[in-house]
Amino acid sequence: MMREDPSVIKQCCAAAYATPWVALLLGESWHPGGLDLTEHLGRALALTPRDVVADVAAGEGASARHLAARFGCEVWALDLGEAQVARGQSRDARQGGAPVRFQQGDAEALPWAAGSVDVVLCECALCTFPSPETAVQEWARVVKPGGRIGLTDVTRRGPLPAALDNLAGWVGCLAGARPVEAYADLLTTAGFQVLRREDRSADLSVLVARIGQALLTWLQFQGPGASLGGLDRAAVEGLWAAIQEAIGRHELGYALLTARRPA
Ligand SMILES: C[S@@+](CC[C@H](N)C(=O)[O-])C[C@H]1O[C@@H](n2cnc3c(N)ncnc32)[C@H](O)[C@@H]1O
Repeated sequence: MMREDPSVIKQCCAAAYATPWVALLLGESWHPGGLDLTEHLGRALALTPRDVVADVAAGEGASARHLAARFGCEVWALDLGEAQVARGQSRDARQGGAPVRFQQGDAEALPWAAGSVDVVLCECALCTFPSPETAVQEWARVVKPGGRIGLTDVTRRGPLPAALDNLAGWVGCLAGARPVEAYADLLTTAGFQVLRREDRSADLSVLVARIGQALLTWLQFQGPGASLGGLDRAAVEGLWAAIQEAIGRHELGYALLTARRPA
């Protein structure tokens, strides 16, 4: 796939997630498995109130707020999108509870000192960074010796199904997706010890079905001849069937990994 200028990819991705479509289609939590998977990840990481957790590419901070409330940890939420950070801050102020520290910044140049956090969390975002290697090296820099990493992301084997080439936004999020072993390699290359790998593809399948249903309902309300990104109802149905089939063939999936920086 043709790669754009890295700064263009980053800004496009942050801008895409700032649109109201995202909240409409995904709800509060912007990854497969939602807050249930986030809580599962928090338990896998054995979070405690003593931990400082950095949520990298945190969106509007749904996971950050959930982890702070559920485990009592201090959470720093970073996102490149100005709108995501602003909405996250105002929601945090409205909801009360354990405060989350929001900050705008780039995952490939984290704004924190070396060894300043106990845990780095990154949900459904590493595959969108132009240089995931740089991002993971940043995790190795900011996490303390003995600190932990919690990662969930889209997995992909082989080329994208042809039908997916029609939706630039989808492709943008899948372009950097890789097999689970490649995520593990990224972590070990940066000096981490991989502790856990889980296949969460069923969560991706549920989310894809939900988004497909929402898009088809929207097209139905628009009436005959309606289209979405140039695709009519039949084309959207075909595209969504192709995605589900790719998940069924294990070409697309979702995975959870945890890792530890040796003490
Ligand atoms: C799929 S959403 C995931 C959000 C959140 N982690 C969640 O699971 O709810 C991806 C997020 O990554 C952010 N993002 C993309 N590139 C980034 C970068 N280089 N640095 C920081 N955030 C970035 C986007 O703005 C978007 O909010």
